[in-house]
Amino acid sequence: MRRISIFGLGRVGLVMAASFAKHGLKVIGIDPNPRVIEMLQKGEPPFYEPKLREYLDHALKKRTLVVTQDPTLNSSSDLAYIAVGTPSRADGGIDLSYVEKAAGMIGQSLRGAAKYQLVVIKSTVTPGTARNVVKATIQRESQKTPEIDFSVCSNPEFLREGNAIYDTEFPDRIVIGSDDLAAIRRLERFYKKFHGSKLPPVIRTDFENAELIKYANNAFLATKVSFINCIANIAELVPHADVKPIAAGIGLDKRIGPQFLNAGLGWGGSCFPKDLEAILSFSRGLGYGADLIRATVETNKKQAEKAVQFAKHFLGSLGGRHIAVLGLAFKPETDDMREAVSVPITNNLLDERATVAVWDPEAMENARQIFGSRVRYATGSSDCLEQADCCILVTEWPEFKKIRPQVYIKKMRQPFVIDGRRFLDVRIFRAAGVRVRAIGLGPES
Ligand code: UDX
Repeated sequence: MRRISIFGLGRVGLVMAASFAKHGLKVIGIDPNPRVIEMLQKGEPPFYEPKLREYLDHALKKRTLVVTQDPTLNSSSDLAYIAVGTPSRADGGIDLSYVEKAAGMIGQSLRGAAKYQLVVIKSTVTPGTARNVVKATIQRESQKTPEIDFSVCSNPEFLREGNAIYDTEFPDRIVIGSDDLAAIRRLERFYKKFHGSKLPPVIRTDFENAELIKYANNAFLATKVSFINCIANIAELVPHADVKPIAAGIGLDKRIGPQFLNAGLGWGGSCFPKDLEAILSFSRGLGYGADLIRATVETNKKQAEKAVQFAKHFLGSLGGRHIAVLGLAFKPETDDMREAVSVPITNNLLDERATVAVWDPEAMENARQIFGSRVRYATGSSDCLEQADCCILVTEWPEFKKIRPQVYIKKMRQPFVIDGRRFLDVRIFRAAGVRVRAIGLGPES
């Protein structure tokens, strides 16, 4: 492929653009947001993602990446990716308007063009979208013939925030769905060239299976986490029990595997919550309730409530109490607070009339947009703990793992810590005089 267009420079599109361009491919990134384009032209990523700034810098210097608001520049590309957002609607379904718009712009840019283009949909979309929305829109707007002038493939992404560049370069598998076998082969050849000897297994399938694989993947992972949280809640009722050795024990069963068995205050982020609601809504539309996925979501909602329950159990009423919330991003190595459990936890604390101080190494700017003047924004973890009656560890940032028991004892009004991600060595903390309540840990003997 001599030139690649990427529509949508968000967390998926920009990472792909930077990664392809860093490896010498000619990429044109297209996004309608002037602020995003302006920042990117200066080499500034609009969000935090490890290695992204370095990759972007390299690509801009080598001139392998051009970013623009102008969609007509797509006409000279051989390959076009659609990586725009698919936000949730009120009923849990997804809003396809950006996908439709991008497909429309691709179609229009191809109208007078004399060359073939392979269009790949990366955005997470419900089954039927690639065939009935993307392909149909491009055909209508370009007035060209599918399979001859253009083809469409569904090629879902499985990028984890915080590891997005690594996952782009070393995916576990590549899923390609289409009704056009030649297009599938073409895209496979492109990835073979890009990944070289590291090419992972490639699944060739239909549009609809590729679209469903993405939802099934996220629903399974979220269910795995809700499952271990359910076991954690049972363990908390059993003297001497602890979910950690239980997770280690079942994780060694090859049929289960050790990943996504870290019990905690629940899952969040831009994918799991949105995708599970979307597949539930899609399935409901087909007349099937998908009870297991619904239970996964319900279990997760209740899990976040545990932080406040633990605090109340220890402190009684939270009115006038001072609570330190350490960790706001939905997971470490990101500034993303979308659907982060820190949000309902902080709101619940405020509803209980507690005063709240918050700290996160990356997400403070996003936090200001969400909490406004309702919380105190600390300047670091130690400042956050100042005079607190209780500290809730919400995100397992490496810097929080280094805080010694003495810091809690010295800074807090009373050293009471809720380990919402199970990263403290509870024995050492208790021996040092810190009261600890942890997810999945049974009553002390
Ligand atoms: C996820 C999928 O992993 C990725 O394949 C998909 O493309 C997008 O959604 P991401 O949202 O970046 O990626 O986060 P992930 O690392 O999967 O974690 C999701 C949530 O689950 C986080 O809130 C995390 O804290 C939580 N989690 C994860 C747990 O609580 N326990 C675990 O053991 C693993």
